[in-house]
Amino acid sequence: MRKLLLAAALAAASVAASAQGQINVICSVQAEWCNMIGTVYARTTGTRVNLSLKGSGEALAQLIAEKDNPKTDIWFGGTGDPHLQAAEQGLTVEYKSPSLPQLHEWAQQQARQSGYKTVGIYSGPLGFGYNTELLAKKKIAVPKTWADLTKPEYKGDIQVANPASSGTAYTMIATLVQLMGEDKAFDYLKALHRNVSTYSRSGTGPIKAVARGETAVSISFVHDGPGEKMQGFPVETITPVDGTGAEIGSMSIIKGSRNMEAAKKFYEWALTPAAQEMAAAAKQFQLPSNKAAKVDSRVPDFKKIKFINYDYAKYGASAERRRLIARWEKEVNSLPK
Ligand code: F6P
Repeated sequence: MRKLLLAAALAAASVAASAQGQINVICSVQAEWCNMIGTVYARTTGTRVNLSLKGSGEALAQLIAEKDNPKTDIWFGGTGDPHLQAAEQGLTVEYKSPSLPQLHEWAQQQARQSGYKTVGIYSGPLGFGYNTELLAKKKIAVPKTWADLTKPEYKGDIQVANPASSGTAYTMIATLVQLMGEDKAFDYLKALHRNVSTYSRSGTGPIKAVARGETAVSISFVHDGPGEKMQGFPVETITPVDGTGAEIGSMSIIKGSRNMEAAKKFYEWALTPAAQEMAAAAKQFQLPSNKAAKVDSRVPDFKKIKFINYDYAKYGASAERRRLIARWEKEVNSLPK
């Protein structure tokens, strides 16, 4: 009798769990954070979470490719520009979360300017990562300005990602264009190219290479530094004194999602302070978009950084992103070193 009851209870529980369904998530933050939210959400709600880890540019390319037969329900994280592009191309749905007033203004603005087809979930400044031991050994100074990175002493010792696959690298191009004007920015990128050893696929590749002593300097989001340092690597970060840009890491629900209600529930959960605090628990230190989320002491202090007035709408437009990346491929990436 007892066995029968237990079997009935288990069956009921599994019906309840499967009733919560599943969601297919493209996750564009680092693996530890993706896995943590996937596991915690699955355990607490009974919803199955299928994760696919992709850089921002790659995620957008996948969503374009599966447009007529979407396999994804929600896109979590990654730089804001490709999320805006996805909105513009009709790949994501309008959803006005009741939690919007709880978010910082920059996160709400991201939602407004996309017609509520995306929302800001975190923010982080672009800067440089450097290996303190390698720089000391090579007797090279810590770079302080964008121009410093073009000095001959850094030749072969700089890594940055490829803007076609990485939102980090696209944020760099858009930042430089706004800081210097477009032609000067491309002259700068050509000069920088002489010093770059590798353009990695993922935006976090370069700071991992810095941490492991494979290169002295990277162009990276500075919130990706402390996690490497916590693993014992000699890595520090700095933001250029002449000014820099910041990303608005975003989240969007995919048009044609087969699990729309489950996707909305996950979306709401991801905007709560408790869910956003998981970033720091997974050793990732972006600024959370929910004003009530605790801010870890390792999150970069935005008040100490000189920011440009980044035009997210302009540089998140499809035509602009495509044009700038094509110009970079043609005029910069094709050059010999
Ligand atoms: O997960 C770390 C991170 O720097 C995020 O803050 C950012 O949105 C993402 O990586 C960008 O990755 P990628 O440059 O590969 O698109």
